[in-house]
Amino acid sequence: MAFYYNEPSRTFSEYLLIPGYTSEECTPANVSLKTPLVKFRKGEESEISLNIPFVSAIMQSVSNDTMAIALAKEGGLSFIYGAQSIEDEAAMVARVKSYKAGFVTSASNVRPDDTLADILALKEKNGFSTVAVTEDGTEHGRLLGIVSSRDYRVSRMEAATPVRDFMTPLAKLVTAPEGTSLKEANDIIWDHKLNSLPIVDGEGRLMSFVFRKDYAEHKANPNELLDAKKRYLVGAGINTRDYERRVPALIDAGVDVLCVDSSDGFTHRQKKTIGFIREKYGDTVKVGGGNVVDRDGFLFLAEAGADFVKVGIGGGSICITRETKGIGRGQASALIDVVAARDEYFEKTGVYIPVCSDGGLVYDYHMTLALAMGADFLMMGRYFARFDESPTQKLMINGTFVKEYWGEGSNRVRNWQRYDLGGQGRLSFEEGVDSYVTYAGPLHDNVEMSIYKIKSTMCNCGVTNLADLKKNAKLTLVSSVSIVEGGSHDVILKNK
Ligand code: IMP
Repeated sequence: MAFYYNEPSRTFSEYLLIPGYTSEECTPANVSLKTPLVKFRKGEESEISLNIPFVSAIMQSVSNDTMAIALAKEGGLSFIYGAQSIEDEAAMVARVKSYKAGFVTSASNVRPDDTLADILALKEKNGFSTVAVTEDGTEHGRLLGIVSSRDYRVSRMEAATPVRDFMTPLAKLVTAPEGTSLKEANDIIWDHKLNSLPIVDGEGRLMSFVFRKDYAEHKANPNELLDAKKRYLVGAGINTRDYERRVPALIDAGVDVLCVDSSDGFTHRQKKTIGFIREKYGDTVKVGGGNVVDRDGFLFLAEAGADFVKVGIGGGSICITRETKGIGRGQASALIDVVAARDEYFEKTGVYIPVCSDGGLVYDYHMTLALAMGADFLMMGRYFARFDESPTQKLMINGTFVKEYWGEGSNRVRNWQRYDLGGQGRLSFEEGVDSYVTYAGPLHDNVEMSIYKIKSTMCNCGVTNLADLKKNAKLTLVSSVSIVEGGSHDVILKNK
């Protein structure tokens, strides 16, 4: 006889948090959302932690390099989508890794024998007032001087005056060597009252500029997720088919963490893929597995060597897997089951494997619930697809701005590697839809608000970190009648 679960499978909207004692220390400013990304042993720290528990979904319509940079600035991480050629995915990863927060490659460059007229033309074209003078006129040529608007007076000088006659020469410039941190660079800028600081390598070649005006932007992102070399962290999706070629290419491009992207992670293919990485790279390459929805699936991936386990089948906003195949599980029930298995596994082995709740988060309070239920971090597609930084088009539909958002199992992507079990090399039927989501503006503003709400709720619960939230949260199921009570009711709304 088949096995029957006693409880129906439940989702986030069926739960509420009960407040705990809020002490004086419990203020949003005191809350840390730092969370482990990859497995670690008892008493040790995870080799990679997120500063906020958000990762963006491994989807064509969500996670490209622009999204990855924007999210890493806030302290989260993107997994670049795998439904593209190996070369294109690796190039996106490389672009994130080469993006230097605060270090800007010089956009306006001249040779010393160019003229004031050339400087003015460049200013007109680029709008930048700082021009680098390099030996060969290229962005990384040997630095000879810089020209800023303080170096010339258009009304008093001939347009044909050569740059070498009025530039501020290298001998009078303050420069800093390659490897200078952004903090050090900003200190030099302040100490010497500079507007810009050229960074030069050992041979005197110009590497980049740090500008005084960018200081404020950096200050606005105290949570930035950086590696030891001050580069943004980035993840990437891989599949269970071409991993022998894709994984090395992504590693060469500098990827920090991989995730096997599959609609069902409880499979021999997933084990083979993770096994390949363990065999070839040991523990030096980090890889998450998924998706699973119960204890057995979790233990399978734990034994297969996954660095984190992703939970969720059928709950994604664009997902029709439950309708087409009749598989899946309410996201809250799936998460609660997997978290229990993770805690048991930790107790038994001393190895903590972070759990990611993937898909189905609609309201900000769902995020807090998922974290309270024990998720270490949250993967979201729809949430991020609404922002300026997602790769899709912004359109006006019936007077409302929207962005396109489509599933990996839709006809638009045909990401068969994520779904196909029979090795046919094609998507036999759709498991996702092509849709619009309401446009919501810049990522920063939205993430800031969501994070503030999570922190506020944590304060209501009397905790200031995620580990305590997991340990101390009190959750209750809600009846359908009490859900009605939870919204505004029995009043006439003015704005309807
Ligand atoms: P959302 O945050 O609710 O939009 O869910 C995003 C998640 O849905 C992704 O991280 C995937 O796990 C899952 N997903 C993406 N594309 C599809 C699809 O076409 N069908 C089913 N699930 C999908």
